[in-house]
This record gives sequence, C-alpha cells and structure tokens, in this order.
Amino acid sequence: MRKILVTSALPYANGPIHIGHLVEYIQTDIWVRAQKLRGNRCLYICADDTHGTAIMIRAAAENRAPEALIADVREQHLTDFEAMDIRFDNYGSTNSPQNHQMCLEIWAALREAGLVHEKTVTQLYDTQVGTFLADRFVRGTCPKCGKTDQYGDSCECGATYSPVDLIQPVSTLSGTTPELRDAKHLFVEIERLRPFLTEWTQTGNHLQPEIANYLAGHFLGEPLRDWDISRPAPYFGFEIPDSPGNYWYVWFDAPIGYIGSTLDFCQKTGENFDSWWKSPETEIHHFIGKDITYFHTLFWPAMLKTAGFQLPTKVHIHGFLTVDGEKMSKSKGTFIKAATYAKHLDAAYLRYYYASKLTGRVDDLDLNFTDMVQKVNADLVGNLVNLASRSAKFAHPLGLSAEYPEDGGLFEFGKNQADAIAEAYENGDFARVCRLVMAIGDKANKFIEESAPWTLKKDPEKQSRLRDICTIALNLYRQMVIYLSPILPRLAQQTAELLDESAENWTFQSVQTPLLGTKVNEFKHLMQRMDTKKMEAMIEETAAENGTNEETPCEWNDSSEPLENEPLAEECTIDDFGKIDLRVARIVMAEHVPEAKKLLHLTLSLGGEKTLNVFAGIKAAYNPEDLVGRLVICVANLKPRQMKFGLSEGMICAAGAGGKEIFLLSPDDGAKPGFRVH
Ligand code: MSP
Ligand code: ZN
Repeated sequence: MRKILVTSALPYANGPIHIGHLVEYIQTDIWVRAQKLRGNRCLYICADDTHGTAIMIRAAAENRAPEALIADVREQHLTDFEAMDIRFDNYGSTNSPQNHQMCLEIWAALREAGLVHEKTVTQLYDTQVGTFLADRFVRGTCPKCGKTDQYGDSCECGATYSPVDLIQPVSTLSGTTPELRDAKHLFVEIERLRPFLTEWTQTGNHLQPEIANYLAGHFLGEPLRDWDISRPAPYFGFEIPDSPGNYWYVWFDAPIGYIGSTLDFCQKTGENFDSWWKSPETEIHHFIGKDITYFHTLFWPAMLKTAGFQLPTKVHIHGFLTVDGEKMSKSKGTFIKAATYAKHLDAAYLRYYYASKLTGRVDDLDLNFTDMVQKVNADLVGNLVNLASRSAKFAHPLGLSAEYPEDGGLFEFGKNQADAIAEAYENGDFARVCRLVMAIGDKANKFIEESAPWTLKKDPEKQSRLRDICTIALNLYRQMVIYLSPILPRLAQQTAELLDESAENWTFQSVQTPLLGTKVNEFKHLMQRMDTKKMEAMIEETAAENGTNEETPCEWNDSSEPLENEPLAEECTIDDFGKIDLRVARIVMAEHVPEAKKLLHLTLSLGGEKTLNVFAGIKAAYNPEDLVGRLVICVANLKPRQMKFGLSEGMICAAGAGGKEIFLLSPDDGAKPGFRVH
C-alpha cells in the first residue's frame, strides 16, 4: 500500500470558485479517489490562500477586517466544493496558527542556512492609496517585448521583470502614476540552490518533460535572481519575527499552507505529522495550473530542501480552461461560478466532461457546450445509465441469478481492462479511462439489444432467462460504475444502493467478481439527460450577474479621458472594414532616419519573401533596437506613398495620443506573420 499526500493549489480567498478552478480541483479529486479505490492511503489536502494585498484591499473597500472577509469566502468555497463532489481530507487556511508555526520553522531554516539577505528595494508606491504596489496592482508596457497592459511582474510573452522596469506604469488601485520609493526587503538567495534544482527538475520524473525543458531553457541556464520574500506594512499576512514591520510575502506562506493544513489534520486526528512530510516512504503530489509553475518547481523545492522536508514526488501541471476556444469572459457569460453551475446542472456532467478531456499533459482544455451536451448524453446517459435503466426494472422482482451466466466473454473483457484503467488514472490520462470504460458499455448495450429482455417480461417460462440477461447487464454496468466511481462518485453511491451494496466497500478488486444471488432494489432515476435549456439558463444567469457587477467596470479605474479627447468616428459598414487588409507582421529591420525628427524606417515581414517598407512616426516612443523581432499589426494594402526618404508601403497600427504616448499593437502569442486580422 502506498502512502500518498496530494494537494491542489490553494485558491485565493478573494473570490468565488469558478469553472476554471474546477479543472484543477475536479482532476485532483478524481486522482485521489482513484488512489483510494486502489487501496492506497491517500490524503487530499487543501486550504484557502488568505494573505496578500488583494485581500487587504478588498476588505478595506468592503469596510471590514480581512479576517471577516476570508471567513465568508471560506464558507462559500466549502459550499462550492461540496456541490461539485470535491472531497478534501482537510481544508485549512494559510491564516492559521498551524501555518504560522510551519512558517516560523521554515524561516528559521532559511536563516540558519545563511540564505536570507536584506536589500533596499525601490518600489512603486501609490501615493493616493498610501501603499506600495504589489506586482498585480501595476500594469504597463512589457520592457522586453513592448506589449501593453501587462502585469507588473510578468508578461504574456513569458518575460518576468520588476515592476520598476515596466514602461509607463499605472496603479490599478487609483489609476494614478505611482512614484518610486525605497524600502528594506528580505531576499532569499535561491541561486545557491541552483545545482540542486537543476538535478531535481531534470531527473527523477518529478515534472512533465515539457515543464522540465521549459525550466532548463528559461531559468536554470543562468543565475537565479534573489527572491524578494518580504513586504512592508501595510500588508495582510504574518509579520516576520526578526524583521518587525515587515511581512512574509504571500507566496512564502501559501505553499507552506500545504504543510500547515496537514499539521491541522494531524492535530485533529492524532496522526503522526512526520509520517506525512518527513518520511521518504510517503509520496507527495501537487496539482497546479501552469501559471504557478515557477513557484512550485523552483522556490518550493528549494524551501523544502533547506528545511529538511520531503520533496514532491511529482508536480502535475495542467493547462488553462478556455470556453468555446476563448478565455472565460464575464460579458459572454462564460465566467461561470461553481455555485451558478451547480444551481442549474449536475456536477457529474462537468466532472465527466473534464475527465474525458484530461490527458495528463499541460495543454489547455476547451469547454465547448455543444460538445459537452453531446458527450454527456451519449456516454453517460445513452451508454452507461441506459444499461441499468433497461435491466434494473425487470431485475427488481427477480433478484440476480445465483450463478454467473454465459455471456460470451463480456465480463471477462471488462475485468481485463483493470490494469490499463488503473494505469491511465495514475498518469492523469482520464480521457483514456473514459474510452476504456465506454468500450465495455458498447459491448454490453449491444448484448442487451440482441437479448431484448423487454420481450421476455410477460412470459412466465422465460423468467430465468430474463434474470440471467439482467444479471449480465447489471454486472457489466456495475463494473463500469466502479471503474468510473472516482469521476462519478454520486452515481456510484446510487448504483450501490440499487444493487444493495455499499459503495464504501468497493475497491478496484470489486470488478473482478460478479455480484450474484442478491436482491435488486427498486429502480430510481439515476441521471437526467443534460438539458440544453438549463445550460442556457446558466449562461444567462452568469451574464446577468456580471452585468450588475459594479466591480467590473471600475476594477482598473480606466479613465474616460481618451474617449472624451477623441470621440468615436462615424459609423462604418463591415464592407468598409473589409477593404482594409490588416495583417500580422514582424519587424525585421528598424533604423533611424537621420533627417527625420519623428520617423523610424522599418522593414516588415509578412512571412516568406514578402516584405513591406514602412516609415513610422514612432521615434519618440521606441528605440529601433527594441523593435526588431517583435510582431505588430500593419495595414498591408495601403496605396504606396513616395516620401522624401523613400517609398512607404504600409502603416503599423498604434494607439495613444502621440509623442511619447504611442503604443504599438501586438497580437497574442501564437499569431504568425501574414495572418489577416478580421
Ligand atoms: N493562491 C494561488 C495558489 C497558491 S498554491 C500554494 C493561486 N490561486 S488561484 O485561485 O488563482 O488559482 C488556484 C488554482 O486554479 C491554480 O492552480 C490555477 O492555475 C488554477 N486555475 C485558476 N484559473 C484557471 C483556469 N481558468 N483554468 C485552469 N486552471 C485555473 O494561484
Ligand atoms: Zn513581453
């Protein structure tokens, strides 16, 4: 028996659980339930991530203490998880005494190892609100690629940097331009652990290969930057004992929350804490989204290593949820909260749909509603539940046969899938689990079709045959349900009741022996078809929630000035727009034009051989050397114009008032030169 501790990332206590989060919590829950079904001792640990500026600011805005806010959010989170059948063994809080204790212990170890240094940090300070600005409260232009409206610490292009380097920073709290101020911060010299981290990330299968390669290529090849681990007051968090007035940065105490929540569990149950975090016999598995890779694969192992805790056996990293191919959107009604989902639809649908799309790789996952309805109705209702609804009613008065009848190898077939299914669960390849189990159902349904039990029902002579057919059908159904019970725990429960068993007693072994000679309880409806109307109602409700949500428009405090300065142009038709051929282009050459005050000379590539010669009035805002290589949007069919300096064959698109206030437009990652903009 393996001993396994499993975690999901700790959700921030400043907002509700949504269907994006659920990609993670559902998949972890399935993995844990599968381990339990296989007889392993498995503990599922999570907690709310309660500290940091965002929570402090929101509490202040709501005129209450952060403790009151996080208590409310916790209740909501627990309700949401329960509604989605996500079952933790312990759900703690990073703002707990247990977590504080673990933070002190790990901090002492970092100090002891001589890894902590004090440095003066020049940080952006919002003079209007009176606080230093956490990275996410600053937006501006990426210093590496020039993309506008990026977070203070990282850009969509993958670059990470200090907010101080951000071009044209704006405080999202007040909309004002922040000023630079000095403060003393504590840093962890993580560079000293680079040899260890290189070894740990690159060997031993702790990470998916694409993640290991990414880390080797982006971080481990050069010295790791010191990690700024403290924040000056005001901050909602734990004060650093040997540095009064400073608080641990939320990303220090958040992962320690995994340990703190385990300690909480051990104190409640009397279990031995060291057997979970200090025993090499215990496996530790973290499930996280790709956005928090850096924290979990570099800082976290470094902290654990230094403080003498067990290292993660594996960090399972998943991609992001898109809905109908796009990022979740409030206005489109696709930013769906778990609570709204559960109000309209059965948790089983989403659990199964996500499972059917998860492969254990880092790829993003798309939720397509049409596809979901089709998948759920075909697999769960049409295939799985159909087996029971076509046989259980007849079997109820008869019970199951005492001996397993000849079934042409069907039960054997199902039995033999056990190893492949167990392995697919282990690898997080739940899509494969679904396929393997549905294959059993395909055969079973064909069998029922051919045996047509409904034709035997009225004939007293054929009752024994009828019972045999139902015994086969229900045993195949039972096999499928046991295999799928990590994904569909509620259906498992209902099925066990139908078959007069207890789902708690089911193990992976239970598929090996048929159920015989027992009674079949009265058939109750197991699962409804997924109803498109209910789904539409859910989307509508979501869109309405967001429509009345005052937070959304003022969240960034965007000023109305640009529109006032330049009102919208006269209406145009789609045909007018279609005449303008906008293309993605790469700047392959950029140079000053000696005689021109405002112009830069650019060569744009549209891919292949096709290039355009362009003179752009962006000299005040951009250095030529920063432009080469980046993607822009250009008007590619503009009539060429002879200028003093040469022929201009196009225009690049930019926004802003002019002068230094010019912001080039860039496509999102993935766009290629030559793509048309529609
Ligand atoms: N509080 C941090 C984690 C600290 S762990 C020591 C955090 N919280 S979060 O609420 O933003 O996200 C929690 C988890 O949900 C993360 O693993 C994140 O990647 C995941 N997801 C949040 N939105 C998601 C999608 N839209 N799609 C898939 N997963 C997403 O990060
Ligand atoms: Zn960038």
